[in-house]
Amino acid sequence: MLKVKFLGIEFENPLVMPSGILQEVAAHYLAEKNGLGGITTKSMTMEPREGNPLPRVIKYESGILNSVGLRNPGIAKGVGEWEKFIKATRIPVLASVFAVKVADFVHLATEVEKIHPAMIELNLSCPNTVDELGQPLGMGVESTGAAVKAVRKALKPETKILAKLSPNVGNIGEVAKAAEAAGADAISAINTVGPGMVIDIKRKKPMLGNIVGGVSGPGIRPVAVRCVWDIYNSVKLPILGMGGVETANDVVEMMLAGATLVGVGSAWYRHGFGIYNQIKTDLEIYMKENKINNLQELVGGAHE
Ligand code: DHB
Repeated sequence: MLKVKFLGIEFENPLVMPSGILQEVAAHYLAEKNGLGGITTKSMTMEPREGNPLPRVIKYESGILNSVGLRNPGIAKGVGEWEKFIKATRIPVLASVFAVKVADFVHLATEVEKIHPAMIELNLSCPNTVDELGQPLGMGVESTGAAVKAVRKALKPETKILAKLSPNVGNIGEVAKAAEAAGADAISAINTVGPGMVIDIKRKKPMLGNIVGGVSGPGIRPVAVRCVWDIYNSVKLPILGMGGVETANDVVEMMLAGATLVGVGSAWYRHGFGIYNQIKTDLEIYMKENKINNLQELVGGAHE
């Protein structure tokens, strides 16, 4: 039995599609079809965004780099599309929003609350829009606290808020503490590492249209595990842990570090959608072999 409970919400299994892996609304139906326990939507912003120049996603030997540039239809149009999706899908939907101004976060979260997602994820940390939009709020302890506090105040007490944190900070535990003190219900971590860059040596040009992009995939897993470990040590909130997870063993590792739910995204780009059912089968084998009745027994186990 792979069920886990997170903030009182039941997930059939701990695997969650992280934000941004699927982009158009129609593609999000693939998550339920392929056995995921939950799905996070591509971040919505105030205005529609076309996205960065192509190519936006490239592979390298230890993962992928992406610089989508928060392509999305904008909240005014997007919210109706997401409402239909939330009504139609059986698995919990985590609705992601992105802004660089506190007031915009409040507006986005208030609009999204009306369509009743299971949770609202505040993307405090997109690495690809810094020049254009300014520094993401999640890069600072105070700015993280200010964003979460304002959103918390605007929403109903029962609406669940997840703060998605960046690994690209000096002390992620301190950022998590600020989010907790400001009223976040849970932490999700990590967002992509970097930004990074890969150069095509034949063309002598950067591979990505945007030159730089966020790094994900197995190369960042040790960073993600350490961040989840630090967050677990710093706050009492439940954690949705992600970063480079590709196998059942990686899921177990992330749970031992402190995660209750585990995001698996880039692995799909590398290995196809079959990996979700493969991970679930292998998790069941792991549980049987290790006499584990409830996966939640593992959470934080490496700290004991
Ligand atoms: C994008 C957003 C992110 O939060 C991230 O980690 C990587 C890429 C984007 O849309 O460009």
